[in-house]
Amino acid sequence: MSGGTGKTRLIVTAIVGALVLGVAARFVVDRIADKGSAGVDSGKVTVSGDARIGGPFSLTDHTGRAVTERDFRGAFMLIYFGYTSCTDVCPADLQSMSDALDSLGPLADRVRPVFVSLDPERDTVAVLADYVSNFHPRLVALTGTAAQVAAAAKVFGIYFAKVRSRSAGGAADPRNYLMNHSSFIYLMGPDGKFRAAFRPGTAGKFMTRRIRDEIEAGGGA
Ligand code: NI
Repeated sequence: MSGGTGKTRLIVTAIVGALVLGVAARFVVDRIADKGSAGVDSGKVTVSGDARIGGPFSLTDHTGRAVTERDFRGAFMLIYFGYTSCTDVCPADLQSMSDALDSLGPLADRVRPVFVSLDPERDTVAVLADYVSNFHPRLVALTGTAAQVAAAAKVFGIYFAKVRSRSAGGAADPRNYLMNHSSFIYLMGPDGKFRAAFRPGTAGKFMTRRIRDEIEAGGGA
């Protein structure tokens, strides 16, 4: 990325991305607030908008194995969508997830950390196999066809879009692009149902507390 046009483009992209994330954050926080009040006050069945986060998916893991959401049942799942070429937010959040699991001690065995690539064009199985080695040893990375990834993102309410950038000289390089994407970390229960959403930048120790609470509340495998 160089030159005035590239810089302007990047800034515009960042602003648009921040706005989208802000709206998405508000949406999720509102949903969580809804769930809390419904569960505590009215005694209504707590099937709220939260039920719309999570659902069926069909992807390939970083060992080349075909997997679906059913392969993750029976354990909590800490799931994050991003892409390996992301230099900032994705690695930081994946590191926080790793920290959270480290702090859980033996309870970490009840949680499966999962990274879903939103960039299947570049994030092949081989790329993901290499990438996971930077993070928690039990991290599972998933990719798939463009259609499979789009379907998985949709069931988790994840926004993503490719943003073209231009290399020096202005020639378009088809491999040179960024992905705008939502960066929530979702905690799903052993039943595959939504439990919590953590904002991008959430500290690992905060996630640890919440995950421990969920496990101790009896949602174990
Ligand atoms: Ni990212």
